[in-house]
Amino acid sequence: MQVLFVCLGNICRSPTAEGVFRQYLADSPLAHQVRVDSAGTADWHTGKAPDPRTCSAALKRGYDLSKLQARQVTEEDFHRFDLILAMDNSNLADLQAMRPANSHAEVDLLLQRYQLARNEVPDPYYGGEQGFEEVLDLLEGASKGLLAELQARA
Ligand code: 4NP
Repeated sequence: MQVLFVCLGNICRSPTAEGVFRQYLADSPLAHQVRVDSAGTADWHTGKAPDPRTCSAALKRGYDLSKLQARQVTEEDFHRFDLILAMDNSNLADLQAMRPANSHAEVDLLLQRYQLARNEVPDPYYGGEQGFEEVLDLLEGASKGLLAELQARA
């Protein structure tokens, strides 16, 4: 099973999703059965580490994102990944527009899939510190839902 988290820049929300979910997975029986990655619909930050505000908020909760490097979504991703999970409706629309017709990947909106209080993970890039905490809160909730789904499917 291969899961790809997608946001716009791949420096705030989707690397946080990757780091949080990796940790949830590592502590589960699925640790060696699921591959996780993240990417952005835009190529603006390719090769860069996550935003320093993202890294420090995550590290305070025990998630080390410092080794991640941003990359853009590719056509190949639609053939390699089983589940491609978007952070907001704009990311979802961009993914649906670039999805090759012969792709079997399931493309979905992450929070909506697990019926959490919100449907979208808000972009924290232009806001204050509280936005990064909210991203972590939402992605910890979503990671629980995703782990439960994958355990049920395994
Ligand atoms: P992300 O946040 O999509 O969660 O990584 C953003 C990062 C960078 C920009 C926008 C959103 N930007 O405009 O550069």
